[in-house]
Amino acid sequence: MRHLLTMMDLNRDELEQILVIAEQVKQLHAQGRRPAWLARNVLAMLFEKPSLRTRVSFEAGICHLGGTAMFLGQEVGWQSRESTADFIRVLAQYADFVVCRAKHHRTVEELAAFNVVPIINGLTDAAHPCQALADLMTMRAAGGDLEDKIVAFVGDGNNVARSLAVACAMVGARFHLVGPRKYFIPQEIVARIRERYQDAEILQTEVPETGLSGADFIYTDVWTSMGQEAESARRRKDFAPYQVNRYLLEMARPECRVLHCLPAKRGEEITDEVMESPNSLVIEQAGNRMHAQKGLLLWLAMQEDKLTAADLEREGIHLKRPLAT
Ligand code: CP
Ligand code: NVA
Repeated sequence: MRHLLTMMDLNRDELEQILVIAEQVKQLHAQGRRPAWLARNVLAMLFEKPSLRTRVSFEAGICHLGGTAMFLGQEVGWQSRESTADFIRVLAQYADFVVCRAKHHRTVEELAAFNVVPIINGLTDAAHPCQALADLMTMRAAGGDLEDKIVAFVGDGNNVARSLAVACAMVGARFHLVGPRKYFIPQEIVARIRERYQDAEILQTEVPETGLSGADFIYTDVWTSMGQEAESARRRKDFAPYQVNRYLLEMARPECRVLHCLPAKRGEEITDEVMESPNSLVIEQAGNRMHAQKGLLLWLAMQEDKLTAADLEREGIHLKRPLAT
């Protein structure tokens, strides 16, 4: 059974398939076509932290595909009323997929270990793979083939940055992290990415000019992630030189595009001016969360033999990226 806990759970071909499905499903959606490929499928959504994009884009996405989402908050008593073992084996009999946003990454690993229902990580302290799928989709739409493109992440080497670093390695993009050394992505994680993708370029630097020179994309995220609120004063000080503003933007290529996973703290990690500039892709990027996750759900359904390539082809969706004309 397949799960998506981190980007390392996919190989390059599988990632390409998910993106190709997502890109075509987005086109169908724009034409007002919503084939009910997942009719009567149920997506259970377990959330330990707040969410707008992840929650609503999954709920809307499964609805477009003919299925239903069930939002499960604290009242289901997960981790309090009963054991994880009982909880997930019962839930798996009702739901076809589970999305989980958890405080600790080990929580999604524990759920997946039972192997009774596909588990999708909707963000943990360690990874945000659904975000990375939408990020790749957004950058591909703006910049075409991402091979050798420079993606400069400015800020904390957090969950979003880590998933993006793997995603970049998978598509041959060059990943630069620009921020204070103590917030770099830990070396053991970088080593794991390099072990799998020997051609990966991952550069971490405290010097904005070094990391941003020639950048095709600049990405940032909040300085204080959910769960780190006690450190926010310290972090505001540490990250102050790394605000994405017009001066920092000038260090990159003139046509450089700007991404942010949102929610943003405008005036901290990014200025209003950059958020609203023509370089900014942030709103489209958030929209792509839904299309990318529809691609993921359809791909997972194929792994579960609930859907075939022929079902997709009947609606004009092909598993290979069309050749550029
Ligand atoms: N980017 C993202 O995951 O947003 P939410 O926290 O609103 O889901
Ligand atoms: N790094 C942020 C991302 C929010 C989508 C957090 O974990 O809070």
